Amino acid sequence: MGKKVLAIVSSPRKNGNTDMMVESFLKGARDAMHRTEKIYLRDCKIEFCRGCEVCSSTHHCVIKDDMERLVDKLLDADVIVLSTPVYFYSMSGQMKTFIDRLMPVYPELRGREFYFITAAADNDTMIERTMQALEGFTDCIENAEIRGKLYGGGNWRKGDVEGKEILNTAYMMGANV
Ligand SMILES: Cc1cc2nc3c(=O)[nH]c(=O)nc-3n(C[C@H](O)[C@H](O)[C@H](O)COP(=O)(O)O)c2cc1C
Repeated sequence: MGKKVLAIVSSPRKNGNTDMMVESFLKGARDAMHRTEKIYLRDCKIEFCRGCEVCSSTHHCVIKDDMERLVDKLLDADVIVLSTPVYFYSMSGQMKTFIDRLMPVYPELRGREFYFITAAADNDTMIERTMQALEGFTDCIENAEIRGKLYGGGNWRKGDVEGKEILNTAYMMGANV
């Protein structure tokens, strides 16, 4: 039986550069008989964390929105793909808001395998800060394993990644989860 692979797309651009890399990754995973699901944060209602700290005792968030079902999907996944465009040298606000809302449950993600997929107009070396920002999340999770990072630099307009080698790299990464 294959792994359950859940991909979070935080770009507001459907079929944009990160989305295309994620799709290649998931195709590779499916071809290797893994089960995949993709979530677009742009389709979800996710409020900001209120910092109320109620979850530190209840392990549940007081906010009732789409995070309830997203948390269930994350806990059910073996492999979690976090994808984001680089926005001002960091992750998108959508991804940061999503991660902050994992405060009640992040310890339960222990042992999961993670992949990071990013796109940026600038070159790959400028993406490192964004990768480090994402690692700020996985560093807090016991035995979280970052199994792969895709640096999609040099892509500015929607679809710029089309025909580039990075899509094959994404496919192979997905095929080897
Ligand atoms: C608000 C905003 C901020 C951005 N900041 C950066 C940046 O700091 N560095 C960079 O290289 N590209 C930056 N970009 C360009 C995007 O990273 C680039 O267009 C990327 O391909 C978008 O990925 P997507 O198609 O998956 O949305 C920015 C774009 C937007 C809209």
